[in-house]
Amino acid sequence: MGMIRRAKQEDKEFIWQVHTEAISELCKNHYTQQQIQAWTSFLIPESYREVIETREFFVVEDDKSIVGFGQLNFETGEVEAVYVSPKSVEHGLGRRILQTLENVAREKGLKSLHLSSSLNAVPFYKKAGYTSHYESKHHLPNGTELACIYMAKHLN
Ligand SMILES: CC(C)(COP(=O)(O)OP(=O)(O)OC[C@H]1O[C@@H](n2cnc3c(N)ncnc32)[C@H](O)[C@@H]1OP(=O)(O)O)[C@@H](O)C(=O)NCCC(=O)NCCS
Repeated sequence: MGMIRRAKQEDKEFIWQVHTEAISELCKNHYTQQQIQAWTSFLIPESYREVIETREFFVVEDDKSIVGFGQLNFETGEVEAVYVSPKSVEHGLGRRILQTLENVAREKGLKSLHLSSSLNAVPFYKKAGYTSHYESKHHLPNGTELACIYMAKHLN
């Protein structure tokens, strides 16, 4: 289900939709309503312009719509995002996106990857071989703090 390809600038609006819906639906049991509201309020379609250009940025296209995306910063070795649309979760798309980012990282010679996982996604990354290290805080522009877990994995 779905084809993974590199993101294009014209995908921005759809990426923004997936991102906003995934946060609103899939993160709501681990953060307060105020945190979710603040988190989504800072996202706008234009905010993906730079990362599509500068990061390893992939989308999953299914039936002409975007149902997931992933973002890797290979200069820092950080998986910066893996998001799947709420209607498309639990079909292995998240794993395929993450594997795509890991394959690119290997090709570029990276030996490990790290990330700050939102609390809800920790079991997903554990399944994929990432180890939890410590709790970190993500700061939104308005000062709202989001608890995250710093995780890492050695690439074989
Ligand atoms: C986390 C997320 C990307 C998972 O996407 P998904 O497509 O449902 O994941 P997959 O179907 O590929 O799952 C892969 C494995 O992880 C497990 N898994 C995924 N999410 C899980 C969860 N929340 N709790 C427990 N296990 C989970 C699956 O059961 C599956 O296990 P299996 O190998 O035994 O079948 C998706 O839920 C999401 O977008 N969440 C909100 C955004 C987010 O928090 N992203 C991370 C930002 S750091």
